[in-house]
Amino acid sequence: MPAAPKATRASKIGIHPEGDYVGDNDMNGTSSNGNGARSHHEDKFRALARTAPVERSVALPLQTEETVESEAHLTTLAPVSEYLEKLDGPQTIHKVTLIPGDGIGPEVMQAVLRILDATGVKFDFERFTAGADAFELYGEYIPSDLYESIERNRVALKGPVTTPIGGGFKSINVTLRKKFDLFANFRPIKNLPGIETKWPGVDLVIVRENTEGEYLGLEHEVVPGVVEAIKVITEKGSTRIANFAFDYARRHGRKKICAIHKANIMKLSDGLFLRCARKVAEGYPDVAYSEQLIDNTCMQLVMNPYQYDTLLLENLYGDIVSDLCSAFVGGLGLVPGANLGADCAIFEAVHGSAPDIAGKDMANPTALLQSAVLMLRHLGEFTAADKVQKALETVYGVGKMLTRDVGGTCGTGQFADAVLAAMG
Ligand code: NAI
Repeated sequence: MPAAPKATRASKIGIHPEGDYVGDNDMNGTSSNGNGARSHHEDKFRALARTAPVERSVALPLQTEETVESEAHLTTLAPVSEYLEKLDGPQTIHKVTLIPGDGIGPEVMQAVLRILDATGVKFDFERFTAGADAFELYGEYIPSDLYESIERNRVALKGPVTTPIGGGFKSINVTLRKKFDLFANFRPIKNLPGIETKWPGVDLVIVRENTEGEYLGLEHEVVPGVVEAIKVITEKGSTRIANFAFDYARRHGRKKICAIHKANIMKLSDGLFLRCARKVAEGYPDVAYSEQLIDNTCMQLVMNPYQYDTLLLENLYGDIVSDLCSAFVGGLGLVPGANLGADCAIFEAVHGSAPDIAGKDMANPTALLQSAVLMLRHLGEFTAADKVQKALETVYGVGKMLTRDVGGTCGTGQFADAVLAAMG
């Protein structure tokens, strides 16, 4: 396998080696709306065009033992040693920001914390509320202490937070991802033993761009009855997510990446996304690259998910396809996720706050638990990660102590008890 080029320190921290501004000449700080004032949208576009590490952009690694042992692999993403340096050296106690969330969040988080406690790994959790609960308590949807905690700890474990539909405050999830520039949303889709679905043996990875597209929240009413929503795709955003996908594929022996798009209609935006992906693909001859229209992909996925390996998607397409793919492995209660940036990582399940089952002791904590396993690996706690994963697979393999969403009768706490028992 060809060795990947070494990431420079400048690129690692997101600063372009040749300065902090890489953009279009039209975006040189002069007003473009004709009245000398910059619009809110213009400021947002300028911010996006700034600090564009178009050559290479690096997310913290999802570590595996392989990445620790192999120097060649260390250069493909942020080196483990530098990550530990950022945390002031190897940690004996991991400081982690904890956001239980709302809805089923506190229930599944409690189950996961009991299991993490049993691993013997020492954590110092800094716990925060966010969203409507935080607003009631502190008058802020995201307390400033929470931002500071994530900045300090660089790692967070998060439960789902409800977002009001069609109005109200902005999504806490999207806000946190943007604030910490967590550009890579990583979601592995893999069957657990004993869970019968129509598609056994699925092994897919979804890499979703996490910071732009339709999720910038650039919406306004042009005139009553006409609303405009702006989708923003940048060279910077598209290049770094493609880099992440290809780096991940190479380090983990994944064979092919399919970039999903709608460039027949979104010619400029999705066209740019594709051009960036193609350029990055040229540097990875060992990973096969293909492209497919999103509508066709949805049909193809349902017909035959085995034809895919790693999917590379913009923000909205990735969000939708993630839920679709969760059905292959038993539903939203099972699929974990990680939001990765150059400086921080937030681990959270794919699912939301599930208000329909909140407070009923029905939620499956597996998705958050598997997210916590990703976090353990990220922190270098491989033995603990393996122990939890093995226990989880044992419980599913035996199939007697499962939650309702996957055909069992157990409550959230009983399921956690079963995993704890399997850990011995
Ligand atoms: P949802 O993911 O909360 O629920 C969809 C369906 O899956 C529901 O029937 C629910 O009962 C089921 N489900 C979800 N997680 C489950 C679990 N762990 N165990 C068993 N069943 C589970 O999606 P929905 O209803 O569209 O969204 C509810 C709220 O969550 C919304 O306010 C949404 O904005 C928010 N949300 C938050 C996310 C986050 O915090 N990262 C992600 C997605 C949605």
